[in-house]
Amino acid sequence: MPTPSPVHIVVLAAGKGTRMKSARPKVLHEAAGLSLLRHVLRTADALSPTSTTVIVGHEHAQVTAHLADLPDVTTVLQEPQLGTGHALLQAEAALAGRFGTLVLLSGDVPLLTPATLSALVATHDATGAAATVMTAMLERPTGYGRIIRAEGGDISRIVEERDASQTERDIKEVNAGIYAFDLAPLFEALRGIGATNAQNEYYLPDLIAIYRQQRRTVATWTIPHAAEVRGVNSRAELAEVARLLYSRNADDLMASGVTLINPATTCIDVGVSVGADSILYPGVMLQGHTSVGRECTIYPGSRLVNASLGDGVTVLDHCLITDTHIGHQAQVGPFAHLRPGSRLGNKSKVGNFVELKKASLGDGAKINHLSYVGDATVGDKANIGAGTITCNYDGAHKHQTVIGTGAFVGSNSTLVAPVTIGDNAYVAAGSTVTLPVPADALAVGRTRQQNKDGWAARRRARQQASSHD
Ligand code: UD1
Ligand code: MG
Repeated sequence: MPTPSPVHIVVLAAGKGTRMKSARPKVLHEAAGLSLLRHVLRTADALSPTSTTVIVGHEHAQVTAHLADLPDVTTVLQEPQLGTGHALLQAEAALAGRFGTLVLLSGDVPLLTPATLSALVATHDATGAAATVMTAMLERPTGYGRIIRAEGGDISRIVEERDASQTERDIKEVNAGIYAFDLAPLFEALRGIGATNAQNEYYLPDLIAIYRQQRRTVATWTIPHAAEVRGVNSRAELAEVARLLYSRNADDLMASGVTLINPATTCIDVGVSVGADSILYPGVMLQGHTSVGRECTIYPGSRLVNASLGDGVTVLDHCLITDTHIGHQAQVGPFAHLRPGSRLGNKSKVGNFVELKKASLGDGAKINHLSYVGDATVGDKANIGAGTITCNYDGAHKHQTVIGTGAFVGSNSTLVAPVTIGDNAYVAAGSTVTLPVPADALAVGRTRQQNKDGWAARRRARQQASSHD
């Protein structure tokens, strides 16, 4: 078998995206947890490309910064932006000396799958064409370039909607804006594209007519799932694309054994994993790199961002959980706020109106109600009473609270950090703890109660006397 030719990716991302009405470049808008551009690059990666080049222009500093963590991606500036043909020409220097197949993608077309790109490249390799155009059959082709075929059925050119006659506009086969090109003749031919059209732009699709005149082979590959070529040009299209990505992720999870009570309302980002027999209720959002174990239940209205959950975890209604690990069979919520850097041990419990920040809870530890625990370590099976507050901040620095195994902190205690509570120690309810509490001790940090016998009766008598005056 011949070895497949090397693949080079070029992504067009220099356009303004006027219809988004945004200060942010269009390709940086997000859908299902990734920017449009990242979706495209992620799919392109499946082709194991030899090189990846992104053409940037409008707000290019923002786009380049967004790609800073991808060392294999080269950015090339297109300034000014004179059209898609002009954009691709800017990649010439970056690809000097390269050979093989150039796959051209659009930074605003995020739904393509790896299988689709592989099929395009396979057709291109099989036909040995100079260019292979991905086309789609659309019931409503408005806005797209139309594919014009000669009598024998071969593609002869592509006409943009603005330049098309009425008969041409009736054509339902459109240019997806995705192509495979043989690198060898490409850049020379691109220089032949003119700008005499409705937009005075250098149109990349005009290359097809040039190749046909040069009697080069141009192939087409028609995508079976036309929805994948949907581009984002407006906020409404962004919402539609996000909806399709969410529903794709929901379908994948259901196919792998996860129950979604109402999939249309569950928003699961790309890159999230959920184990079998877990149940996700309506309005759950799983974002970033969240991973959920098997047999977990997440009730309505909770948002998990980069959270990792073991097996059998229950998250009750309306929790916000960020950068936190939750051990097997733990229970959280309702209305809990678990902030970054927290760790919950197996079978631990965090109840309603509890906020944790950089807090580590041992196995079986409980903080059931109305507490703030930050910069703290809580030992196995410790019990933190309602209304306990760690005073971790002195206005300048954060300090640690360490609570030992099996310790019992009474309700409404304030633990002034840095402070340590020893294993199996008790803190009396209502205490302000400023000194270390030894293991097995009882700390009482409050004034002792006094009862003044008859005080209330004497007060009433005084009040009655003054009202007769
Ligand atoms: C383009 C195609 C059209 C096709 C459609 C599919 C052209 C002229 N038309 O139209 O046939 O049906 O895609 O979605 O190619 N860009 C640059 N530099 C520029 C201009 C554009 O990088 O100077 C980038 C844009 O950021 C975008 C992509 O190229 O990512 C496509 O440009 P866009 O203006 O969206 O072209 P369409 O009108 O969608
Ligand atoms: Mg477009």
